[in-house]
Amino acid sequence: MLNLIIHNENKEQKNKLDRMIEKNEKLLEEAKAGENCYADSQGWLDTKEWADEQKLCRLETLANEIRENADAFVLIGVGGSNNAARSVIEALKPEGAPEIIYAGNTLSPDAMKRMLKKLEGKSVYIDCIAKNFETLEPGSSFRVLRKYMEKTYGEEAHKRIIATGTVGSSLDQLCTKYGYTFLEFPLNVGGRYTAMTNVGLLPMAVAGIDIRALVEGANDMQKLVHTQEANENIAYQYACLRNLYYEEGYRVEMLASFEPQFRYFYKWWIQLFAESEGKDNKGIFPVASEFSEELHSVGQFIQDGSQIMFEIFLDVVQKNASLVVESDAKEDYFDYLDGKDFWDINKAAYHATVAAHSQKIPCLTFEVGALDAYHFGQLFYFFQFACYLSCKIMGVNAFDQPGVEAYKKWMFDALGK
Ligand code: PA5
Repeated sequence: MLNLIIHNENKEQKNKLDRMIEKNEKLLEEAKAGENCYADSQGWLDTKEWADEQKLCRLETLANEIRENADAFVLIGVGGSNNAARSVIEALKPEGAPEIIYAGNTLSPDAMKRMLKKLEGKSVYIDCIAKNFETLEPGSSFRVLRKYMEKTYGEEAHKRIIATGTVGSSLDQLCTKYGYTFLEFPLNVGGRYTAMTNVGLLPMAVAGIDIRALVEGANDMQKLVHTQEANENIAYQYACLRNLYYEEGYRVEMLASFEPQFRYFYKWWIQLFAESEGKDNKGIFPVASEFSEELHSVGQFIQDGSQIMFEIFLDVVQKNASLVVESDAKEDYFDYLDGKDFWDINKAAYHATVAAHSQKIPCLTFEVGALDAYHFGQLFYFFQFACYLSCKIMGVNAFDQPGVEAYKKWMFDALGK
């Protein structure tokens, strides 16, 4: 299970945290029970609602069919409709699975042409994922890709087209009319909370990810944070800590890890917190850094710049690889590494970084058991629940996105919709 370490807590801080935990206890109980006012957005709260046995079987059957026939699978979607799947696929995709190509997340013609080029000569399937199917990026890319599929596969194209949309939406109607496979996008789950639904799970299953392990991880985390009392509940403690740091004036939270495989998980995490919490002129700005690489750039700011941020590390516990430094007669002055394993060198860098940074800013670590599907499932549920709690403490609605809707309207106006 996820383990939380607070690196630089003094007595005064501990007392403040205890008070915060006590003061907001009622909010934890409300979140566990689910709230009527958010009933249209809390379908993720019980993982089984959208990832039960029947739904998993259907997804596996469809994914196997695609895996048998496809060299490439195009995931068309933006934001919550692609981030969860991409984060797991890019971290864990086994060899031999169809290539996963991302589309519907840009309007750049150059990027779109590059994406189309990748499809040449391959057996392609596409999945357009969109909750309301008005969003410009996936909608316009879906049209471009449908044309590609029709040109390439003619009358057979519809057999290779899947769409994940809400029941009754224009996307659903398009599927009925033209014979595309339709998957339900849960009406009661907002995009950024859809990891454990058709939205996240189909692309992952096509990529050969063990979606049952993922769902099991989410289920286990769900059980944990729904049963732990306030003073031991890690999701609630993290939510309280964030709010404590916010009260103390910290406005930026940095997520960092020494495992580059978390690269796209950062995007998911950033979206979750930015879109859920950044409203009503409140919120903590989420950023992320890939260590050790970015210790050589933003590391300077963290160590020595204005103290606007606190930092969370994801530290993977189970050793997943080994590479030992061989000795070398050529004098390069790196002999102090002879015989050492990069696993331990990387760990030493992590411990040194925590020691250095925690002199300056608040630092937390989440120890993640292993880099596998099960633990990704835990992370998704953990951060979703913690984000919801954090928003409740801050007094904002975790599930709407008025700012995103506002900018979309400006784009539609600019394009004469
Ligand atoms: O989390 C959210 O609600 C958003 O980020 C959406 O996922 C994103 O805007 C894409 O929306 P849609 O699926 O309707 O195209």
